[in-house]
Amino acid sequence: MTTQQADSTAQSADLPAAITAVPYHIGIIMDGNGRWAQARGMPRLAGHQAGVDNIRRILEHCVRRGVKVLTIYAFSTENWRRPPDEVSGLMRLLGLTIQRQLNELNRNGVRILHSGRMEGINKHLQKQIMHALEVTKNNDRIILNVAFNYGGRAEILDAVRHIIQDGIPPEALTEETLSSYMYIGELPDPDLIIRTGGEWRLSNFLIWQAAYAEYYTTPTFWPDFDEAELDKALIEYSHRERRFGRVLNP
Ligand code: FPP
Repeated sequence: MTTQQADSTAQSADLPAAITAVPYHIGIIMDGNGRWAQARGMPRLAGHQAGVDNIRRILEHCVRRGVKVLTIYAFSTENWRRPPDEVSGLMRLLGLTIQRQLNELNRNGVRILHSGRMEGINKHLQKQIMHALEVTKNNDRIILNVAFNYGGRAEILDAVRHIIQDGIPPEALTEETLSSYMYIGELPDPDLIIRTGGEWRLSNFLIWQAAYAEYYTTPTFWPDFDEAELDKALIEYSHRERRFGRVLNP
């Protein structure tokens, strides 16, 4: 889907009065795990483990607030450049997380999706990912879209390659068609992109889909980004005027 997504209607009974608009789709750049760990004299991987633990807390709060899709940036195509220990640690963490949490996620109605390239991921982990997608495919409480081995430029490149392979003529190509060739073509565009850890950049995350997203950044490191922090982002989002290029009151 392309731009101009309507916000989901805020239906949650316990919605604070200050949250007047709930994004249908939130994307999160979960930055700051390494610095969180270093500040505690711990190895960087301990920060990533704390980051994984936090996903659950935020996912649950998203359900509470009525968010329908959460996309998390877990491993980028550029993250292969990190020290080999950290790369293999992140791979192992995804496998362990699927192993330990899949049943509970499934019981709680979470549908898992994967955005990214399978090539490069080891065969065993690929199987675990495919299994998680298959087991949860009929769930509809919330979608957890895990961007793993994901890059926005790689995604656009892959889409263009498939479009050419399918023989779509240039004059027939529309924004909607290109959107439908993204890794998860049926997902609505993100309404809100949150970046923790204090940086102000997109780092190749959903660069096509986030064209009209609202941005929110906080210095808080990802493992410390709790329910109250998410509510702060939702309150800020509630104050944004989304115009999608239009004039609202001409
Ligand atoms: C950035 O922190 C974080 C990442 C590289 C991705 C986030 C990864 C996780 C939360 C864990 C893996 C997730 C799954 C689902 C297995 P950073 O290392 O860049 O932190 P820094 O900027 O403080 O160094």
